Amino acid sequence: MKSKVSIVDYSQEHRSAIRRILERIGWAEQYITASEHNADVFSQNSNIYGVYIAIHRNVVIGFIYVQFHVWNQLATIQGLAVDPTEQRQGIASALVDKAEVFAQFKKARGIYVDTPVSNAKGRNFYQAVGYKCAYIMPRYYEDTLDGVTYQKFFENKGNGATVGDRYNT
Ligand SMILES: CC(C)(COP(=O)(O)OP(=O)(O)OC[C@H]1O[C@@H](n2cnc3c(N)ncnc32)[C@H](O)[C@@H]1OP(=O)(O)O)[C@@H](O)C(=O)NCCC(=O)NCCS
Repeated sequence: MKSKVSIVDYSQEHRSAIRRILERIGWAEQYITASEHNADVFSQNSNIYGVYIAIHRNVVIGFIYVQFHVWNQLATIQGLAVDPTEQRQGIASALVDKAEVFAQFKKARGIYVDTPVSNAKGRNFYQAVGYKCAYIMPRYYEDTLDGVTYQKFFENKGNGATVGDRYNT
């Protein structure tokens, strides 16, 4: 990773950086507003959520939100972005590592994430860091925008069977 980058807990002083990063990426306003709101709400409940930011020379250059689900012992990446000027330097990889440490500390079995099918950067990234495509969810984001879910399990306790195999009796 880029040198001298710290991954630290989010606090309210970092709120404006989330907007700046997402505006630079070009996200629609509804997603930016939701992301700011989520950072504030999630960071109030550290039992269930991890909210982390990447800082380089006192500037916030990326963030990640991770949620632990008690009922099925899985975690979800609820948001991840890196400033466009700082991409391809391992920042998102470091943020995902931190999210996975949070999830494993909670004894999660694995972690999953949803992204638009059209998000080639995001899809390439998740595959590069070991996430497998699980399923497509039609109309998940909008009527004309499907979602795709990627997942990673922390250890393979089974026999390596795929989901499809499991239902072939
Ligand atoms: C997806 C995103 C978070 C990746 O951040 P990043 O800091 O550039 O990622 P990393 O530098 O850790 O990339 C690790 C690996 O992922 C893959 N990867 C990352 N971005 C990629 C791209 N644009 N095209 C192809 N592969 C890519 C590469 O294999 C890369 O390793 P390499 O640079 O040695 O080839 C960033 O592009 C981003 O913020 N995108 C907009 C928001 C988004 O899509 N968030 C995720 C889905 S919600």
